[in-house]
Amino acid sequence: MDFAISVKNLSKKYDNGFQALDGVNLDVKKGEIFALLGPNGAGKTTLISTICGIVQPSSGHVEVLGHDNQSQYRKARSHIGLVPQELTTDAFETVLNTVSFSRELFGKAKNAAYIEDLLKKLSLWDKKDTQIRMLSGGMKRRVLIAKALSHEPDILFLDEPTAGVDVELRKSMWEQVRQLQETGVTVILTTHYLEEAEEMADRIGVIRKGKVILTESKKTLMEKLGKKELVLDLYKPLMTLPDDLKNLDITIVTDGMQLVFTYDPLKEDNGVVSLLEKLKEYGVKCKDFNTRQSSLEDIFVELVGESS
Ligand SMILES: Nc1ncnc2c1ncn2[C@@H]1O[C@H](COP(=O)(O)OP(=O)(O)OP(=O)(O)O)[C@@H](O)[C@H]1O
Ligand SMILES: [Mg+2]
Repeated sequence: MDFAISVKNLSKKYDNGFQALDGVNLDVKKGEIFALLGPNGAGKTTLISTICGIVQPSSGHVEVLGHDNQSQYRKARSHIGLVPQELTTDAFETVLNTVSFSRELFGKAKNAAYIEDLLKKLSLWDKKDTQIRMLSGGMKRRVLIAKALSHEPDILFLDEPTAGVDVELRKSMWEQVRQLQETGVTVILTTHYLEEAEEMADRIGVIRKGKVILTESKKTLMEKLGKKELVLDLYKPLMTLPDDLKNLDITIVTDGMQLVFTYDPLKEDNGVVSLLEKLKEYGVKCKDFNTRQSSLEDIFVELVGESS
């Protein structure tokens, strides 16, 4: 398997002695969308910056499409586009100039048609002659994306790409990222929006206190950890649970008119049948029921529980 990114035993201790990365191993496959999830200060930006060669690791190695990101820095970097978390752009430059210049910095031949197409896709073409300082925050972020894509990279890093971007624009950015994936670009993003990871990612890595504690395909993650909820609508309100149901994960909601039973769908004996039997025994009648899968958000909160 050819990896877009291969990270081996990567650690970073900042000068002040803070261990921001602690023995990270991570492979990202070519063409996938990989989301890095973790609470504030978990090490997401440090990891991305170290992979991109902006931050020097204390130990460990990174390969970018087979190139060591230190001994073959220029080659490795040429494959990468990075959209940083912090908005940093040249305020007085115009959109078109700044994006075109960014391409030239990578030594790529001018390609006006490519840049035009890029700006159009990011809905920035009508702003091409506007100075960046006059753009809104969301537009500035899109300029950073255009800059990162200006040299046609194979791997795009998006560090919190939709922070401060409104819902509509966020959806359009997701769409653009998917289109990029269709053209073969590998995308690695960090996000605080669990909805975003759930919506976009093929695989998800959870980072906490500088350690990648889990990498899994989104599907497997949901199946493995995703509990299900059985919601029962009752005929009559039930104020307290019968004693031998009290040890089950049941909550009474909507003034006693509903019971919510949380269970593990992968367990052979998941408790649903015995719950229904017991309710019958106690004369609790159900009008209707439905089940729902808990979202990635629940899974994430469970995993990273306490803050970093
Ligand atoms: N230059 C630095 N010197 C010392 N410590 C740093 C430096 N940069 C980051 N850190 C620390 O390293 C830890 C990880 O920071 P990092 O920015 O990688 O987190 P993050 O996961 O990106 O957080 P956020 O979600 O807030 O963006 C934090 O505790 C941070 O304070
Ligand atoms: Mg960060």
